[in-house]
Amino acid sequence: MKAITYTEFGGPEVLRLDEVEEPHAGPGQVRLKVVAAGVNPVDHKIRNGWMPHMSPALPAVPGLEAAGVVDEVGEGVTGVSVGDEVLGWTTTGAYAEYALATDFAAKPATLDWDVAAALPVAVETSVRVLDALEVKEGDTLLLHGAAGVVGAVAVQLAVARGATVLGTASPANHDYLRSLDATPLAYGEGLATRVRAAAPQGVDAVLDAAGADDLPMSIDLRGGTDRIITIADPRAAELGIPFSGGGSGPFGSRLASYARLVADGQLTVRVARSFSLADAARAQEVSAGGHAAGKLVLRP
Ligand SMILES: NC(=O)c1ccc[n+]([C@@H]2O[C@H](COP(=O)([O-])OP(=O)(O)OC[C@H]3O[C@@H](n4cnc5c(N)ncnc54)[C@H](OP(=O)(O)O)[C@@H]3O)[C@@H](O)[C@H]2O)c1
Repeated sequence: MKAITYTEFGGPEVLRLDEVEEPHAGPGQVRLKVVAAGVNPVDHKIRNGWMPHMSPALPAVPGLEAAGVVDEVGEGVTGVSVGDEVLGWTTTGAYAEYALATDFAAKPATLDWDVAAALPVAVETSVRVLDALEVKEGDTLLLHGAAGVVGAVAVQLAVARGATVLGTASPANHDYLRSLDATPLAYGEGLATRVRAAAPQGVDAVLDAAGADDLPMSIDLRGGTDRIITIADPRAAELGIPFSGGGSGPFGSRLASYARLVADGQLTVRVARSFSLADAARAQEVSAGGHAAGKLVLRP
């Protein structure tokens, strides 16, 4: 099968379109014919060798999430059949024609393939962090990087919990944040003043989904480290802030209900662009630029 592989850590040039052996579904696994694979910022961080705890054995196929059609069902897997459309996490790399999965959800028939591939990481991360922050009705949440794929899902889920969300983004994304019922704030110099003006009573929780060095000012605003979490700032530990990373266990059954919300138009995810598999390096470069304005997707 065709897949993107890399045999050493480094820049986008280490990625190559390769012919590799197809994986086959073992016990507890299904195999997907990948229709769309999500490109996440962590993909280029792993490729660069910046995430030692997530470094795969090489050669590796990048990519954590995909949507596709089940074409093999391994022993002991129930509730799914060949031909079913699903979305979920891949265990063999999503940038490929075929991938194995153990944690997945049914794809509603009306859900767009690219949007389906954009959901697993963004939804699981948002739910995990909003739960850890105990975001609830009446809270004011400051969300750094609110117009990103994760940020925008977190905005909508926090608003649905009854929170008021102040979301940082570049001015081009302010109307988008307003459309999600968040109050947009420009990031950069003077942000603390803008937050204080928008929330004179203070903020109750902070989610950093940007990793752009906003933690010290967030600690100042909160008057301490309580109810602040980052998913993106590697300086978290030295500042005494929890870094939430990795999955919190199987999420497929919960993902199914969020996929239905998206199919019903009650939760939205922007897709910025889709690329062919051969353009994976370009897609990762756009992702690494940090302003893609939505999910980047590969179409193997
Ligand atoms: N730990 C975990 O479990 C986990 C899971 C998923 C993602 N992540 C990490 O979370 C981050 C966001 O992921 P994503 O998929 O949402 O990425 P994304 O879609 O590329 O979004 C990045 C966002 O960051 C914003 N941004 C850029 N510079 C900023 C700044 N100086 N201040 C505030 N916002 C800024 C951009 O907004 P503008 O375009 O408006 O500038 C953009 O919307 C990445 O670092 C990713 O690796 C972590």
